[in-house]
Amino acid sequence: MGPTSVPRAFDAHARSYDKLVNANPGYHEHLRMSARRMGLKRRPGLRLLDLGCGTGASTAALLDAVPGAEVVAVDGSAEMLAQARRKNWPPGVRFVHSRFEDLARAGVTGPFDGILAAYLVRNLPDRDDGLRRMYDLLRPGAPLAVHEYSVRDSLRSRLIWNSVAWGVIIPMGRLRTGSADLYTYLWRSVRGFDGVKAFAARMVGAGFTDVRTQTMTGWQTHIVHTFLGRRPAAEDAADAAGPTAPEGLDLSDADTPPQGTPTAG
Ligand SMILES: C[S@@+](CC[C@H](N)C(=O)[O-])C[C@H]1O[C@@H](n2cnc3c(N)ncnc32)[C@H](O)[C@@H]1O
Repeated sequence: MGPTSVPRAFDAHARSYDKLVNANPGYHEHLRMSARRMGLKRRPGLRLLDLGCGTGASTAALLDAVPGAEVVAVDGSAEMLAQARRKNWPPGVRFVHSRFEDLARAGVTGPFDGILAAYLVRNLPDRDDGLRRMYDLLRPGAPLAVHEYSVRDSLRSRLIWNSVAWGVIIPMGRLRTGSADLYTYLWRSVRGFDGVKAFAARMVGAGFTDVRTQTMTGWQTHIVHTFLGRRPAAEDAADAAGPTAPEGLDLSDADTPPQGTPTAG
């Protein structure tokens, strides 16, 4: 299983997905933390994009942070979206079946006042291209939050991830669905994903400014992170001499204070 077949693999697991994530302590609260960290302010007409919305857990997190916002929630898996649509949503929420790469063809265009991509970016065939597309979809000054696993920078994080994945997630996934394919892919893809520093550098390389990271609570501490950045406001872009990669910063085990850990940009 590779990145291009991920939405199809989620089709087969859609019915059990909510039960599995509900059994994961902190799953929903951590999504709400990432949504709150975007620093969005309530205002009429606020328009947000939830990329890889799945069964709607990240959509709910956005609405918790900014009730009443208009949310376009996109996913490449028809079955995950079917589960999402079964829930009660306020009138401003719209679910769209599309791969992220085909959004324009599905009629979804920017600008958005914020984007949340929770557990999506690791699955994209080309992360740099994905980040550039997100940048283009944002209004100048608007935030991006990438909520994602990243364990590469820390031995401790890799060891905890191995034991949670092989001790809990994979056996539980197999028990609930009869197949462990998606969950072994999850383990492997997290192991293969960028370290915190490398992903922050990718965001800077894609043009994002104010790039910073914050981690979660519980077993996900230094395992799941919010990567935050924003498209420069028009005046910032005019001043910028060009993106610079962060140098000499070790974020792997850094404490992440509420204001985040600045990396560069
Ligand atoms: C782990 S789920 C996360 C769902 C939700 N964001 C959450 O936090 O619970 C990842 C979702 O991303 C979707 N996905 C993966 N690659 C995608 C792509 N290229 N375009 C659109 N959706 C994609 C999958 O179908 C799946 O529903």
